[in-house]
Amino acid sequence: MKPKFSKDEIYDRLVPALCPPYTHALEYFKGRTAGAEFVVELGVGTGNIAKAILSATPTIKYIGLDTSAESLEKARQKLQGYTCELRQEDFSKALLPNAQIYVSSLSSHHLDHEQQNILFRRIHQVCPSFLHFELIAPQSKKEEEENNAYLKSCASKVAGELGLSSSDIEAMLEESNKHDKPMTLAEHIIQHKSHGVEFDLLLKDHCFVMYQTLRK
Ligand SMILES: C[S@@+](CC[C@H](N)C(=O)[O-])C[C@H]1O[C@@H](n2cnc3c(N)ncnc32)[C@H](O)[C@@H]1O
Repeated sequence: MKPKFSKDEIYDRLVPALCPPYTHALEYFKGRTAGAEFVVELGVGTGNIAKAILSATPTIKYIGLDTSAESLEKARQKLQGYTCELRQEDFSKALLPNAQIYVSSLSSHHLDHEQQNILFRRIHQVCPSFLHFELIAPQSKKEEEENNAYLKSCASKVAGELGLSSSDIEAMLEESNKHDKPMTLAEHIIQHKSHGVEFDLLLKDHCFVMYQTLRK
């Protein structure tokens, strides 16, 4: 079947369907940044998180980093009317600005665990709080099977709407899994606690978590 949408349009439709807690996470992103003056987003992508945050608190000084020129262009279109600085930068190499809150969604699970640890440490050095929505690895074979069944059922629900077959979506998931190196929730907690910050788990749904860290 020929896809009806561009890659970015598919992304915008696929993510909330394949990650049911994404919509719930957007509410945390809005609520937990309300009142903040300066927010930095790592991996701003097509601007979904930025739009949710800025629509709730348009006065925030917002910087979004991403390496993809194509996604940044989509984000620019989506964020017209909001004051927001979008930078084409690699967050693993960029100088991270001091800010009140760092936010990130589904943007670091492709990094090696040590690279994730280094990134988290750098965030904590420049910022008192980090809000993170992320894919996590299963802690057991049983959990892995449950997560796979969950993702398959989500994929079959969204396939028709996108003009794709369930197997097209499963193939896309498999392709993206090849590059993924998600950590378990326990590994996230250990890494953050080793940097001396508090870890507040906001949601866990199968292979997705959202948490906020706070400098003590
Ligand atoms: C799965 S998308 C998530 C986009 C957005 N945060 C969201 O939730 O819709 C991951 C994004 O992170 C970006 N990204 C991955 N590694 C990056 C890096 N080292 N520096 C900057 N951006 C990066 C990708 O280009 C992509 O746009």
